[in-house]
Amino acid sequence: MSIPQEFISELKMRSDIVDVISSYVKLKRSGRNYLGLCPFHGEKTPSFTVSPDKGFFYCFGCHVGGDVIGFIKQAENLDYVEAIKFLAQRAGMTVPENAADNGMSRLRTRLYEANRAAARFFNKQLYTEEGREGLDYLRGRRLSDSTITHFGLGYAPKSRFALVNHLKSLGFTKAEMIQANLANETRNGNAIDRFTDRVMFPIIDLRGNVIAFGGRTMMKDFKPKYLNTSDTPVFNKGNNLFALNFAKNEANGTLILVEGYMDVIALHQAGFKNAVAGLGTALTPEQANVIKHYCNEVILCYDSDNAGQMAVSRAIQIIRPTGLDIRVLTVPNGKDPDEFMKTYGEQGPARFRMLIEKSGNDVDFRLNKLLGSYNTELTDQRVNFLSEAAKLIAGLDSSIERDVYISKLAMEQHVSKDAIKEQVSRIIKKNSSNASKREFRELKKQMNAESSRISRENHSTFGSAKAEESLIALLMNNVDIAVSVFKSVPPELFADAFNKRVYETMKANSEQGFDFTLTDISGSFTDEENSRIAQILASHASESSPKQAADDYISKMRENAERVTPDQVAAADEDELRRMIENMKKKKS
Ligand code: GTP
Ligand code: MN
Repeated sequence: MSIPQEFISELKMRSDIVDVISSYVKLKRSGRNYLGLCPFHGEKTPSFTVSPDKGFFYCFGCHVGGDVIGFIKQAENLDYVEAIKFLAQRAGMTVPENAADNGMSRLRTRLYEANRAAARFFNKQLYTEEGREGLDYLRGRRLSDSTITHFGLGYAPKSRFALVNHLKSLGFTKAEMIQANLANETRNGNAIDRFTDRVMFPIIDLRGNVIAFGGRTMMKDFKPKYLNTSDTPVFNKGNNLFALNFAKNEANGTLILVEGYMDVIALHQAGFKNAVAGLGTALTPEQANVIKHYCNEVILCYDSDNAGQMAVSRAIQIIRPTGLDIRVLTVPNGKDPDEFMKTYGEQGPARFRMLIEKSGNDVDFRLNKLLGSYNTELTDQRVNFLSEAAKLIAGLDSSIERDVYISKLAMEQHVSKDAIKEQVSRIIKKNSSNASKREFRELKKQMNAESSRISRENHSTFGSAKAEESLIALLMNNVDIAVSVFKSVPPELFADAFNKRVYETMKANSEQGFDFTLTDISGSFTDEENSRIAQILASHASESSPKQAADDYISKMRENAERVTPDQVAAADEDELRRMIENMKKKKS
């Protein structure tokens, strides 16, 4: 990190977290903390907390958290250095300039400007003689004039120098055009337009900057159909989503994820303004994390062809770890949402709404309700619950959905996925709603035999991770204790890799004579990771006898260190897990 730690400490002192956040959120005092409505997801009752003592914020609803720098990063969509500059300006401080990084931020500004100028240019072309073809194409795809304006669509002329010459007249250099990927460099070093004879879709980030373009050919079967901006200093296709700038304000808890630009636009035009799309690549974990800030549920609406369904399956795997609810909407007859709207015309929106409602097959709701009617601490009841749950899952049409709920159930109930899967398949095969007594006994046997062992194992790792987290929270709040713990407890005692990194970072800060609160170490972690640290802090109240508590946590960790580590367990497949359990049994006897 090019910004000196001393500067961060000073900045932190001058940027009171309650002050800063109050410009964005109405905060109310509640004991030692402050409460408000979370700015990162829609909510009606406050679950967003700010702790002025400990210098962090955390939302119990969407699990976003961090320090004051993290808040500004996310609220203003800035990177780490930009957020520090933002806070410094507010506090009347000057960031010690590092030449390289200053050059980079100047370049980024220029590229934003070039992209904006290009978007304007492309849009204007639609209304010229030459661009008429582009306008006709868009209108032919049933886009209204106001939709075209809203999305800032445009046309890139056939000439290979139209944009280059225009940008040159505005004072942009060849190098800037090339770096923005608006121009390609020829062999003899000239810049020529990257996009020619295509309708243009500007990609806009959350702050309203034009950062890239997708350009579609108007010729049938011409390849590539879409030409997209490659990654540039202001654009990373794996981190951004098309139309999220609009959709984030309309999400109301739900985003619809579709495959194409045209699908997004057709849906917005039909009133579904919460639709977004990736940028021509498979969904990335970064995109899933971005999405998570704006909704708590994603409706996946990909093509119903094979490739589309594979994409759904992959997207589910990427989204599942974020904790977002997932629904899968399949548009009938192999159409994509754009074709669907076009086919049904005026009826399109109502019909699509029906598809959304149908996709919501409320499995979660039904499973939760079912769970509520059993005491799953008791083996018998747990078996009954699982058996009923398997029936419910067997009733789902989509194998992808079934798989999602089987995995979820397996994880929550600490039962092997295969055991449930088998049960579900059997129910489907027999197409009978009454599982036979034999099946029932079988499931019960499997559960008793292996899964309760897995569950016991999980509990012990859970205990150790818990002790580690409690210790981290305690150390952040008790400098004196921390300093002596740093001397006596090696990072290797932490079984959880992330907890270990947090501890190491705190320890390193301390050894260099710096503080080690969240703000002091947040620069070494991603937003996601800082959220997790904030969560740890938020879920641990201050201990009344911290010294004793620290000793307890440490001895719990020592105890666990002698067992199989959580990393080993997490990385183990079922067979390995079984072997580990066998070994443990041997050791005990
Ligand atoms: P239309 O034919 O205009 O309706 O396209 P679509 O929106 O239905 O797109 P399609 O389902 O063919 O592709 C989905 C998305 O994948 C597009 O929006 C692009 O982002 C991307 N894509 C499609 N074709 C290409 C291509 O040839 N190259 C690249 N890089 N991306 C493509
Ligand atoms: Mn299409």
